[in-house]
Amino acid sequence: MSKAYNVIEHAYDVVVVGAGGAGLRATLGMAVSGLSTACITKVFPTRSHTVAAQGGMSAALGNMGEDDWRWHMYDTIKGSDWLGDQDAIEYMCREAIPAVVELEHYGVPFSRTDAGKIYQRPFGGMTTHYGEGIAQRTCAAADRTGHAILHTLYQQSLKHNAEFFIEYFATDLLMDDDGTCKGVMAWDLATGDLHIYRAHMVLLATGGYGRTYFSCTSAHTCTGDGNGMVLRAGLPLQDMEFVQFHPTGIYGAGCLITEGVRGEGGYLTNSEGERFMERYAPNAKDLASRDVVSRSMTVEINEGRGIGEEKDHIHLHLEHLGADLINEKLPGIAESARIFAGVDVTKAPIPVIPTVHYNMGGIPTNYQGEVVTLKDGDPDTVIPGLMAIGEAACVSVHGANRLGSNSLLDLVVFGRAAAMRAAELVKPNQPHSELKNGAVDKVLERFDKIRHSNGSVNTADLRLEMQKIMQNHAAVFRTGESIEKGLQKLRALNDQMDDLKVTDRSMIWNTDLVETLELTNLMPQALATAQSALNRTESRGAQARDDFPDRDDDNWMKHSLVSVDDKGNVTIDYRPVHMYTQTDDVEVVPPKPRVY
Ligand code: FUM
Repeated sequence: MSKAYNVIEHAYDVVVVGAGGAGLRATLGMAVSGLSTACITKVFPTRSHTVAAQGGMSAALGNMGEDDWRWHMYDTIKGSDWLGDQDAIEYMCREAIPAVVELEHYGVPFSRTDAGKIYQRPFGGMTTHYGEGIAQRTCAAADRTGHAILHTLYQQSLKHNAEFFIEYFATDLLMDDDGTCKGVMAWDLATGDLHIYRAHMVLLATGGYGRTYFSCTSAHTCTGDGNGMVLRAGLPLQDMEFVQFHPTGIYGAGCLITEGVRGEGGYLTNSEGERFMERYAPNAKDLASRDVVSRSMTVEINEGRGIGEEKDHIHLHLEHLGADLINEKLPGIAESARIFAGVDVTKAPIPVIPTVHYNMGGIPTNYQGEVVTLKDGDPDTVIPGLMAIGEAACVSVHGANRLGSNSLLDLVVFGRAAAMRAAELVKPNQPHSELKNGAVDKVLERFDKIRHSNGSVNTADLRLEMQKIMQNHAAVFRTGESIEKGLQKLRALNDQMDDLKVTDRSMIWNTDLVETLELTNLMPQALATAQSALNRTESRGAQARDDFPDRDDDNWMKHSLVSVDDKGNVTIDYRPVHMYTQTDDVEVVPPKPRVY
């Protein structure tokens, strides 16, 4: 098989797949610690989807008023609707502070207070004194924070001699018979060569799978490629039913309008001009957590108080903030609103609608980024040689609902943690043992089969159908009946995966082949999401079941572990939520009703 392709072999200590915020933070940390580090990325690093992160990164610095990482931890647990692992949440909120200071020292151009400190804005669900006050905790570089972080981390990684393989599409993990990950294969889109990377640690930082949906804030590249690789390696994904809808995607376009708008004083109204969030979240109002705001908007629309001819969206106001504040703190969204909604935000509200934004679910890991699985009754069994971080991973710090600005934090804290763990586990320049089981042939054969797909179904058509099914059947509100119908349709679509047609046989810039490979990653994740949502007979965080409207702590304080085989058959196991902390500095926060 390898004779049909030009296959180039590489050996590194560690290989990172993905060059978003998480991948770059890990790449930098690994390179700094003296490991030979390769970073493989589908797009140019500074075009990774982190570049679209607007509002900021949470850390209890206390620059704009009192704050404490323990309050941040409490908010994150409550935001997660008690599905987050409390040991990992403790780690993230505590480490947020050194992680953001490090970023500042690396050169991230944060906005500044008059006193020269990092500027911090309020964000949804972020409070002081365990829910009493509103915290200003989100560290911002205007409304382009992801952009600023990404550029800084890329420059630092280059400075520390990390090697980048840019516009390479990683296709599959190389797994040994004993279940150890030994490397990864990637396709160089520019030359058509295939590359086999051997590594003592492969770290997946491939982002989320927002593109299973029709309307999302995610880039077209967000196809969960690492998640797909993990499923094909026979490993489960975790908590895939929890898909976050951001309250303020631009109506019709899907682009993000940062929660930072509401943090700076913006607010939502319905067709009656009413600030309806006051009814749903009397204290936090427009700054309740995202699941709460998205559900409230959807109820307003469903009850006939939506805006526009079709009464199908909501207004976001920031006219009252004034041009000076908008130009200084929110220049990017002013531009987006002008381009994508034709709105001058100093004069008129932006039409918005809840839009798929983030996957709380992903590859299960411990807080050091090591991939874990359920084996012989132990849910924390580490898969040697494999790590995952960022949106691709499920640590789980976000549980059933992520708080805004905890995502950039997650990327940086766990990118850093994974680099530190890799430096403990991998000694520089160790030889690579031989791969025993024809692992390379296996991944080559799969690639070759997809490349030569010669059926009758067009990839783009199948993808669009999948996206519409997910949009309609795994939405803000769900019922068992609607999800089951969606699943039946998805299964029928999945049956057509063997009948795909790749029209272009070229190995160079073959976008049809790229999109087909991506679809082989997206489809099992769509199945995993729908089946996990169907099985979870409760409402918690982003999973709002009309037929099971209450949270059920007696039966569902557990994470879903979902596997999908190559025929699309889905099986689900469970593991308990970590209801323990790492240290005695904090106590476990027991579940209670979640009101904002
Ligand atoms: O609204 C936003 O700026 C998005 C931030 C986030 O998802 O963390």
